[in-house]
Amino acid sequence: MALINENYLKLKAGYLFPEIARRVKAFTEANADAAKRLIRCGIGDVTEALPEAVRYAMHEAVDEMGDRGTFKGYGPEQGYDFLRTAIADNDYKARGLNIEADEIFISDGSKCDTGNILDIFGAGNKIAITDPVYPVYVDTNVMCGNTGDANEAGAYAGLVYLKCTPENGFVPEIPAEKVDLVYLCYPNNPTGATATREQLTAWVAYARKHGSILLYDAAYEAFIQDPAIPRSIYEVEGARDCAIEFRSFSKNGGFTGVRCAFIVIPKTLTGTTKDGTKQALHPLWSRRHSTKFNGASYIVQKGAEALYSDEGKSQIKALIEHYMGNAALLVEACQKAGLSVFGGANAPYVWVGCPNGVTSWQMFDKMLNEANVVITPGSGFGSAGEGYFRISAFNSRANVEEVCRRIAALN
Ligand code: MLT
Repeated sequence: MALINENYLKLKAGYLFPEIARRVKAFTEANADAAKRLIRCGIGDVTEALPEAVRYAMHEAVDEMGDRGTFKGYGPEQGYDFLRTAIADNDYKARGLNIEADEIFISDGSKCDTGNILDIFGAGNKIAITDPVYPVYVDTNVMCGNTGDANEAGAYAGLVYLKCTPENGFVPEIPAEKVDLVYLCYPNNPTGATATREQLTAWVAYARKHGSILLYDAAYEAFIQDPAIPRSIYEVEGARDCAIEFRSFSKNGGFTGVRCAFIVIPKTLTGTTKDGTKQALHPLWSRRHSTKFNGASYIVQKGAEALYSDEGKSQIKALIEHYMGNAALLVEACQKAGLSVFGGANAPYVWVGCPNGVTSWQMFDKMLNEANVVITPGSGFGSAGEGYFRISAFNSRANVEEVCRRIAALN
């Protein structure tokens, strides 16, 4: 008799995006004509072609693989030095941040990293998440038994929910109680909010005071337009001693289908054993990574490295300008429609208040049925997301302009 992990039975119906896909499929099967007009602004999946510099580097890497003399088998699990060094030099040292190449671990995505990181933390931690939140943080904690059951509103016993509202700019207040792990994501998915240096400084001070670890998801840092907003948690002094940072090539380099990301675990960062001994987290993650992961492919890592070339940087810039131009149009269209609008200025997500007490899923249905546009219902990100919906700016310009026309025409 094989026992199952019963924590999975606590999970709510479906992971948000497959659930949206299921509803859209049902709609398109029942409405063939409307299906032809459908525009997807739900999942934050990039739409524009891979940068040329990446394609060129990947072609070259494929050719290397086709020659016995330059062929590569298993690579280093932590990632090839060429990519770890390019990241340390460009994303950190060039900005005056003290992160070394060997503190960086290459992976196949931030979704996996933010879920897998729980492997190196023990049971019994008090865990705080923002509400609304990227659902992966919650569901992976449920899966590994860090929570009790969910209540009617979908909130899990045992988690500390930090409400994010227009009043606090969607950046949570520092909790009065002590928590051990805190997930923060800025620029934020789903609200598109950013955290100021002062706000992040307060979080670092809190974490250092309590021996907490900040799990800082910076997957959208490339979309920051305002130079005063920190792009990395390590811009805050003391963060090396209390924060893990997650970064991804998915949204800046268009790698959602290619798969490459990284995690930074400073060597100075420690957790604690039950007897109170401090233990560095870096060797634990290194052990975990090399046991459960065989490294991202050489071809993919060569593609990622090319994003740091001069051509790669200017091609990323063009992609970001494209998506942020879309975001600006969506913000304007929603404002003109009289809706309250947040985000979209330093992030590719526009967070919109539903009109007159319409719920998030009612708004989802309205947009699907009347405008044939797929959006993401805010309640899918947590109970504080009820009454909001998210529009993703990842799309072609023509599609976004059409979405704006349809929003204007909505009743
Ligand atoms: C989203 O739409 O929230 C993102 O695409 C999710 C992800 O990056 O995994």
